[in-house]
Amino acid sequence: MGIQSILKTFSATATLLLAHYGAFTCATKPQTYGIVLVRAFDTLDVYAPIEILQLVSSMHKIQISLIAETPEVTTEPMAAMMNPFNSTVWPRVPTTLTFATAPRDFDVLIIPGGPGVRSPYINSTLEWIKEVAARAGTVITIFHIYATTLRYA
Ligand SMILES: *[C@@H]1O[C@H](CO)[C@@H](O)[C@H](O)[C@H]1NC(C)=O
Ligand SMILES: *[C@@H]1O[C@H](CO)[C@@H](O)[C@H](O)[C@H]1NC(C)=O
Repeated sequence: MGIQSILKTFSATATLLLAHYGAFTCATKPQTYGIVLVRAFDTLDVYAPIEILQLVSSMHKIQISLIAETPEVTTEPMAAMMNPFNSTVWPRVPTTLTFATAPRDFDVLIIPGGPGVRSPYINSTLEWIKEVAARAGTVITIFHIYATTLRYA
């Protein structure tokens, strides 16, 4: 993860804060958040927004769902060449819901980046995002491939 990635996450986190700050003047505040995970997701892209939302949750109710194709997701890359020293630095995250069971309506959909978003095996994730992003109140993407996918959906 480089400086660029940190800046991108920072900017997404700032967007999240602004969305909330603006929301304080509205009658309804965003409450339900879906965060879409793929294998080899970027850790900071997921946990930086969660940390902010933990702060916001002291002011009003927040519900976060971690959603993926499978009941568990790891940050470990699929390709061995992306882990040349066979390091064991990859957390495994149990998901709250899978695509089969997740609701289709979220106030905010958060789409993290990371090496995994370049995988050719995330078609069902992209399909789910297309459907759910169209219905979400706000969509926050941290990686441009998703933005491109959504634009041409
Ligand atoms: C990587 O390490 C694991 C144990 O942590 C081992 O089971 C596996 O065989 C190793 N893979 C390679 C390619 O060395
Ligand atoms: C994913 O979709 C793309 C574009 O439709 C297709 O070219 C590719 O073969 C699909 N990948 C898999 C693993 O099915």
